[in-house]
Amino acid sequence: MKILGIESTAHTFGVGVYDSTKNKILANEKAYYKTPPGEGIIPRKAAEHHAKNAAQTISLALKKAKIKMKNIGAIAYSAGPGLGPCLQTGATAASFLAQKYDLPLLPANHAHAHIEVGKAICKFSDPLILYVSGGNTQIIIEQKKPEKENAGKSFRAAKKGKKFLAGKEGGYLVLGETLDIGVGNLFDSFARELGYKFAHGGILAKKAAETEKFHLMPYTVKGMNFAFSGLFTYAKSQIGKMDEAQICNSFMKTAFCELCEASERALMLTGKKEVLVCGGVAQNKQLMKMMQIMAKSHGAKAGTCENEYNADNGAMISLLGARLLKEGKAIDAKKAWIEQKWRVDMVM
Ligand code: FE2
Repeated sequence: MKILGIESTAHTFGVGVYDSTKNKILANEKAYYKTPPGEGIIPRKAAEHHAKNAAQTISLALKKAKIKMKNIGAIAYSAGPGLGPCLQTGATAASFLAQKYDLPLLPANHAHAHIEVGKAICKFSDPLILYVSGGNTQIIIEQKKPEKENAGKSFRAAKKGKKFLAGKEGGYLVLGETLDIGVGNLFDSFARELGYKFAHGGILAKKAAETEKFHLMPYTVKGMNFAFSGLFTYAKSQIGKMDEAQICNSFMKTAFCELCEASERALMLTGKKEVLVCGGVAQNKQLMKMMQIMAKSHGAKAGTCENEYNADNGAMISLLGARLLKEGKAIDAKKAWIEQKWRVDMVM
């Protein structure tokens, strides 16, 4: 069966097509909302961009997959976590298509989709997961033990019963996470402080690569949790005093050292043999290099997928959609819902 997946949690309106029979991604098309120079994302404007580009991106994905809407067997969409207006646009498009073509509609958790596509591409079966994106930075494991009381419950029902930390089979547990901001937002914010017009982590990484000079900056790891505000404030205070490449190199590496230490603690606790790094910041080669060294020292293997699947994308939503359909998670096409704060450990 071919599943169409729609991603719209933040900057990207993405549409993917996954063929579950051939286990193959057939299309992964994107329209990207560029923030005005020096500014962060404005949710309403990003949503307007998504609405404007939805029909064309869907057509491009179908064209790339060499199929028509009548060949699609189900529609999946990102239901959260993300920015409300952006999520709503994707949910509306998905609900419209599901109703028009009488197809099952599948709400997908964005973090869950990053994990599923990463596992599939790296061929990992039970990894420790470092999920690093703009708004989220978490160390996660998949729980294998079934919890009868939650089996078959929707995440909302489970949330009401406050049972969402101990999921049923296939549920996720967050072992550690950022206590303030996500590492992607940390990098974007700092790039703006440095005055870069289209500020993002990729620009910081390029600047950081110009030097090997390293200056240790404030470093906060508490158990398997970590924080970045001290690092941000200090690095900001060094602008104009320290060489810019050295600031970027020290700033990024200090943040990555925090992630490595917290992940190492989780790896030693769980004894896993695979470490999956996924999400937008997994595109950073320095982070992957450091995670590979850390994992290797414990007899484990660290991996990630290609950049196009670490950045936000519709293919991962369509791939997760196949699993959700199999698990009987389709909802009434008229009742598409979104949940801005749908954490991965609330996925049931
Ligand atoms: Fe993402």
